[in-house]
Amino acid sequence: MSLQIKNIHVSAGDKPIVHGFNLKVKPGEVHAIMGPNGSGKSTLANTLMGHPKYKITNGKIELNKLDITNISPDKRAKAGLFLSMQYPPEIPGVSISSFLRLSAGALRGKTENPITFHKELNERMKELGIDPSFAGRHINLGFSGGERKRLEILQLLILNPTYAILDETDSGLDVDALKIVAKGINTFRSPQHGILLITHYNRILEYVVPDFVHIMVGGKIVNSGKKELAEEIENAGYQQFI
Ligand SMILES: Nc1ncnc2c1ncn2[C@@H]1O[C@H](COP(=O)(O)OP(=O)(O)O)[C@@H](O)[C@H]1O
Ligand SMILES: [Mg+2]
Repeated sequence: MSLQIKNIHVSAGDKPIVHGFNLKVKPGEVHAIMGPNGSGKSTLANTLMGHPKYKITNGKIELNKLDITNISPDKRAKAGLFLSMQYPPEIPGVSISSFLRLSAGALRGKTENPITFHKELNERMKELGIDPSFAGRHINLGFSGGERKRLEILQLLILNPTYAILDETDSGLDVDALKIVAKGINTFRSPQHGILLITHYNRILEYVVPDFVHIMVGGKIVNSGKKELAEEIENAGYQQFI
């Protein structure tokens, strides 16, 4: 069992961005990927999710030995990969509760009973300290960075995938949102779950302590280590790897 990224090269349009990226994530492990702006972290995350803008020109991605390099995002989700929705589409009149119920139903292959589902959702929100009124909010583009992250973390706990890829960068979270996100990830963390936590800052890694840290520069991993590597970056920056 593992999520294996084997020597992938990725381009957006004609622009090569990821140049030979290798990583194996096993259930039970938390891998952090850190790197300066523009190093290709979000490109990697989007590629793993099957975003149509990004083309894998070489290499492959395997999920528990299943080749998922070219399969659609919904099939990836069914195979156990979490597709975080950084930018939920604007769906006027659709509440967060209905949206999550429909996604859970699609993934579980059955229609979720609204009452039972609402109970499940409420329990999750309570655990994370999210205000109950959040479930009734409509999915729209007016979400703040923090609200988007709350939705993403709720989605993670409700969909309960085997592997989660979380791109934390650039979201400018305030400390409350950061704590909710960290709590959600730590709740999800278990011997059955593998996590790829992509981040620009060391900040979240103070709350979610990774098993492995990888430094990504220029579209590939240039150094790997344990949590101490993140502390080193905190002190000395990325300059030493560029
Ligand atoms: N869809 C795209 N089209 C063209 N260039 C892109 C696209 N997405 C990302 N890039 C470029 O690829 C590089 C890496 O971007 P990104 O993956 O967002 O880096 P990071 O998340 O590490 O900051 C940047 O130079 C960025 O401008
Ligand atoms: Mg990014």
